[in-house]
Order: sequence, then C-alpha cells, then structure tokens
Amino acid sequence: MGARTCFVTGAATGIGRALVERLDREGWQCLAGYNRQPPDALLAACSDRVRAVQCNITDDASVTSAFQEIAQAIGEGSLDLLVNNAASTGGAGGGVENVDIDRFKDLFEINLWGPIRVTQAALPLIRRSQDGRVINVGSASQYLTIPMGCSYPVTKAALQRVTRALRAEMKPFGIQATCVEPGGVHTPMMDLTEHQRAELWASFPDELLSQYKAHFKYPGDAIQENVPLWTSEKFADHVYRNVICAKQMKVNYVIGPKLWVLPVMRRVLPDSLRERIFERMFKR
Ligand SMILES: NC(=O)c1ccc[n+]([C@@H]2O[C@H](COP(=O)([O-])OP(=O)(O)OC[C@H]3O[C@@H](n4cnc5c(N)ncnc54)[C@H](OP(=O)(O)O)[C@@H]3O)[C@@H](O)[C@H]2O)c1
Repeated sequence: MGARTCFVTGAATGIGRALVERLDREGWQCLAGYNRQPPDALLAACSDRVRAVQCNITDDASVTSAFQEIAQAIGEGSLDLLVNNAASTGGAGGGVENVDIDRFKDLFEINLWGPIRVTQAALPLIRRSQDGRVINVGSASQYLTIPMGCSYPVTKAALQRVTRALRAEMKPFGIQATCVEPGGVHTPMMDLTEHQRAELWASFPDELLSQYKAHFKYPGDAIQENVPLWTSEKFADHVYRNVICAKQMKVNYVIGPKLWVLPVMRRVLPDSLRERIFERMFKR
C-alpha cells in the first residue's frame, strides 16, 4: 500500500498545522487546506509530500475546486482521512438577549455547514479507502454553560450530534467517524485579545451593559483562570496515537488538560449541581 492520504481543513495555523506536521512525519500524503493565507511556514517545515489546497469551507465553489485538486492529486488512490478542523469562535458574542442573529448564523456557516459541505465532497474519495475515517473537531466548551458566550459551543454541540449520525450512516460502508473535542490548546484561537473583549461588551446596548457586567466575568477570563494550556504539538500527538491509530475510533474524545472531568460531570452530577459549578465559574 502506498502512503495513506489525508485532507485537513484550516491547516495553516494551530491544531490543523500541528496535525499535518505529525501526519507528514508518519509518512502520510497530506493535503493541507487553508483559507486566507497560504501555509508557507507549514510547507517549509514538512516534506514535499504536503500540498496546500485553498479551501474556504463556507463557499461551495471553493470546496468544489479544492476537491477537484484533491482528486487529481490522489489519482486512482483514495482519501483515507478527512479532518474537519477549520472553525471560528468569533463575532457572535453576547447574551441570548442581545446576540446578533446574523453573526450567529455566520458561525453556524463555518462551524457546522462547513464541515458538512466538506464531508459531502470528500465521501466519494473516502469510499475508495479500505479504512476511511472522518474526524470532526468539536470543542470541550460544549460541556460548559457559558453566559454571554453560548454561540460557539452551540455550533460545536450540533457538530457532535451530526457526527454521531454520520458515524451510524457510514458504519455499513466501513467508514468510521468521530468527534475530537479539544480544550486548552495554545493556538491563535486561544489568544483572546482586548479587541474581542471590547467587541463582546460593545454588543450590549447601554441599558443592559452595566447589568451584565455586574453579574458576569468576561468569559475568556473565566476560561483562562480554569484551563491550563497544552501545545498544539502535544494535542496532535495525542490525537495521532489515540484516535488516528486506534483500530476502532470511539464516538468522541474530549482531549486537553484536565478535561476528562467534563463528560464525567455531565454523566454523574445532577443538573442542579453542575449549574452551581458553572455559576461560580462565570459569575463576578
Ligand atoms: N485551541 C483550543 O483550545 C480549542 C478548543 C476547542 C476547540 N478547538 C477547535 O480546534 C480547531 C482548530 O482550532 P485552533 O485552536 O487550531 O485555532 P486556529 O489556529 O484559529 O485555527 C482555525 C483555522 O480555521 C481556519 N478557518 C476559519 N474559517 C475558515 C473557513 N471559512 N474556511 C477554511 N478555513 C477556515 C482558519 O484560517 P483563516 O484564519 O485563514 O480563516 C484557521 O487556520 C477548531 O475546530 C476549533 O474550534 C480548539
């Protein structure tokens, strides 16, 4: 068998980049999806098996043209692994009372419809594989209740449910699907800037701003106080060894420092107790 082949979306930075570097070291043929900036640093760090493919996952034409390029690169071979990694946290902060619904929809466009669109384009090539796999990158944040910050976790909770359906639908065809749910990985996404903080507070109308500020911390502060950080290389190593190399992938994997506790809390603690824990975490 020749080199196994993967396509990773959003591979110019962070987790996507680290995953491609790791897979390249293991001898995979990697197609590295990027959106705005070509992944020059990634290409410089990898073998010439890695090929950059422009792919804006929110755009039908971009995804179609990316998969024409991928099909050409693969030739008669198969796509063995798709990692739907690209996502965004941005733009739809605020409480349910004031969140900008159009920006909330935009977030679904990237974090949910994007991975579905890419999966639809990829499956004809994955069906040719003897061991085809789809890894959707969710988020451990979906196990938290984050006041003024529910939009991103909601998109990731939806992605996890879609992944479960995909997993069931693909099982008869020998294709596995899972959702990897990171948290606390040091990447550009975790560099919460003053601009993001200002943007969140600016989303509130004046008459509500002081009321929300009196009750809740900026959610980024609460998360940084409670979640230590792993490097993206450590995260990619963990995913490679425990997910990509697993004979049978599990339904989902929550991966990051101390995060095993979140799904356990969901399983064993009563709602009222979990509610109190999250209240304490996010209240001022
Ligand atoms: N870091 C963490 O602790 C953490 C926690 C929970 C979940 N995650 C998840 O992990 C994955 C990777 O995130 P990261 O932490 O590595 O952050 P990151 O470095 O910001 O990576 C996100 C990537 O997605 C790309 N992207 C955004 N919109 C896109 C679009 N429309 N089409 C194609 N690509 C697009 C970005 O490229 P452009 O900048 O060019 O748009 C960027 O390269 C995401 O699914 C994220 O939700 C991370």
